[in-house]
Amino acid sequence: MKEFISAGDAPNIESLVQSALQYKASPLKDNKLGSGKRIGLLFLNPSMRTRLSTQIAAQNLGMETIVFNVGQDGWALEFEDEAIMSGSKVEHVKDAAPILGKYFDVLGIRTFPSLQNKVDDYNELYINQFIKYSGIPVVSLESATLHPLQSLTDIITIRETFKEKRKPRIVLTWTPHVKVLPECVANSFAQWINAWGEADFVITHPEDYELDEKFTSGAKIIHNQAEALKNADYVYVKNWSTYNDYGKIYCNDPEWMLTNKILATTNQAKVMHCLPVRRNVELSDEVLDSPNSVVTQQASNRVWAAQAVLSEILTNKK
Ligand code: CP
Repeated sequence: MKEFISAGDAPNIESLVQSALQYKASPLKDNKLGSGKRIGLLFLNPSMRTRLSTQIAAQNLGMETIVFNVGQDGWALEFEDEAIMSGSKVEHVKDAAPILGKYFDVLGIRTFPSLQNKVDDYNELYINQFIKYSGIPVVSLESATLHPLQSLTDIITIRETFKEKRKPRIVLTWTPHVKVLPECVANSFAQWINAWGEADFVITHPEDYELDEKFTSGAKIIHNQAEALKNADYVYVKNWSTYNDYGKIYCNDPEWMLTNKILATTNQAKVMHCLPVRRNVELSDEVLDSPNSVVTQQASNRVWAAQAVLSEILTNKK
C-alpha cells in the first residue's frame, strides 16, 4: 500500500480488519517495524481522535511522530496552480510538500472541504497536491470527501461485535445538525461498506440529501427513516449537508434525531457515530448513554485501524 486515501487503496479490507484486531490483542508485537522512520501528522483542521490514535499507532510500531498544526502554526498554504500569490496565502504547496517529503518517511494529512467549490472538493485538490509533491506515502486523516481510517474502524467495530452467522443489516441515517457539515464520513462509510460486501446496507435521509452515487451505489436508499430502521442490527448516525446543491442545509427536521423510540423497531441495534457528537441534536442522551451505544469502543478502535494501515505502508516500503 503506497497511499491510504480511499477504500480502493486497501488491497483486502477483511485482511486489514484482521490485522487491526491482531494489533488490538497485541499492540507491541511489531514495535521495531517503524524503527528509524518518522511520520509527520499535518492538521489543517481540528481533531482529537484522529490526532491521538494515529500517534499512538505509529509509536506502537516504533515510529517517531511529529504533529504540525498547519492551520494554527504554519504559513497559510496556496493550492491553486499558477496562483498570483499577492493575497493572504504565504507558501505554495508545491514548495512546502517536497520539504515535508525530505523530513518524513510517511505523511498523514487532515484537510476539510471548502463546502463551496464542489469540483475542487470532489477532485480532492488539497490532499492530491500533497501526494503529488511530497513524494512519500500519504495517509488521509480525513480529506474533502472521505475519512478512510474512520471507515476501517467502523468495520472493525462491526466485525468484533456481530456474532451471528448472517450478514448484518446496517443502516446509515442522516440526522439534524446546527452547522453545515461535510459528506466525508457518510461517503466514506458507504464506500467501505459497499467494498467490504459483508452487509445488507441501507441509507436513509430526507429527500435533497442524496450523496454522490459513486459512493452509495449498491446500497438501498429509503427516505422514510422508520421503514429503513426496521430490523437494523447497526444504526450509523451522521449529519451531512447537501451534495447536489452543494454545501447547504435544507430540511433540518428534529424528528430525524435518533431516540430510543425510533430505535424500538430495530433488532436491538448497536448505535455508531464517528464523534464528536452534538447531544440531543443528533442523538438523544438516552441513546448515547445506553448499552446500545458502541461509540467509545468505536473511537478506541481508531488506534488499531491506524496501526494496521501504517504497518502495511511500512512493510511495503522495505
Ligand atoms: N472521528 C474523528 O475523526 O474525530 P476527530 O475529528 O476528533 O479526529
